[in-house]
Amino acid sequence: MNIILLGAPGAGKGTQAAIICDRLHIPTISTGNIIRAALKSGTEMGLKAKSYMDEGKLVPDEVVIGIIKERLAEDDCKNGFVLDGFPRTIPQAEALDSMGIQIDKVIDIEVSDEEIVGRLSGRRVCESCSDTYHVAHHPPQEEGKCDKCGGTLVQRKDDHPETVNDRLRVYHEQTEPLKGYYEKQGKLFEVKGEGDIGDITRLTLAAIEA
Ligand code: AP5
Ligand code: MG
Repeated sequence: MNIILLGAPGAGKGTQAAIICDRLHIPTISTGNIIRAALKSGTEMGLKAKSYMDEGKLVPDEVVIGIIKERLAEDDCKNGFVLDGFPRTIPQAEALDSMGIQIDKVIDIEVSDEEIVGRLSGRRVCESCSDTYHVAHHPPQEEGKCDKCGGTLVQRKDDHPETVNDRLRVYHEQTEPLKGYYEKQGKLFEVKGEGDIGDITRLTLAAIEA
């Protein structure tokens, strides 16, 4: 099954993708994670993407389309995949269609802007293993330290409150129109993304199995 997770920044795409992939034994492809990894290892693409990312802007279409084309050609995508954070613009969705990639379901996780701001400004991420925490909803046992590996917890640059507002604006302008794009193709399923994570997962899996 080839699945797209759609939703605002902080809607819980990454959270749900991890659970779905575990259940269905298929890989998650997160363009955000791929770009952050490239940045960490200092590749040319990573350095080019940094300024866009830090300011909450979208990285140019041709860069992310190139990333996805390469990644989807890998062997582990043969039995299905979950796309987290791609496509984010109409040209990206069109590129996916023109690659001949058949998408089965598009799950749109709906969360209000107000909730998003609270989630992202409280998020902390482990510098070493990328495990995610929230200062109020999911704090680590020891402040500033990862429960899993003991690494240091940091705030993503684009999770600073002013940048979160920019990311939300970009989402409404450029990514939200994808709902109509996939609705026309009969592939769109909406899931309410506020409340218990287990409940949201049940709704997401029900939409996938529908
Ligand atoms: P990317 O890394 O994709 O980030 P994002 O979508 O902007 O946002 P998040 O990863 O924060 O959202 P999420 O929905 O995965 O939420 P999560 O599960 O972590 O992109 C970053 C940047 O890369 C972009 O701004 C852009 O510059 C660039 N980029 C990436 N892809 C691109 C593309 N295709 N084109 C162009 N540029 C691209 O959850 C968030 C928080 O909420 C966590 O703390 C979590 O614990 C918490 N949470 C989750 N569910 C719940 C719940 N039910 N209740 C309470 N808290 C919850
Ligand atoms: Mg994410």
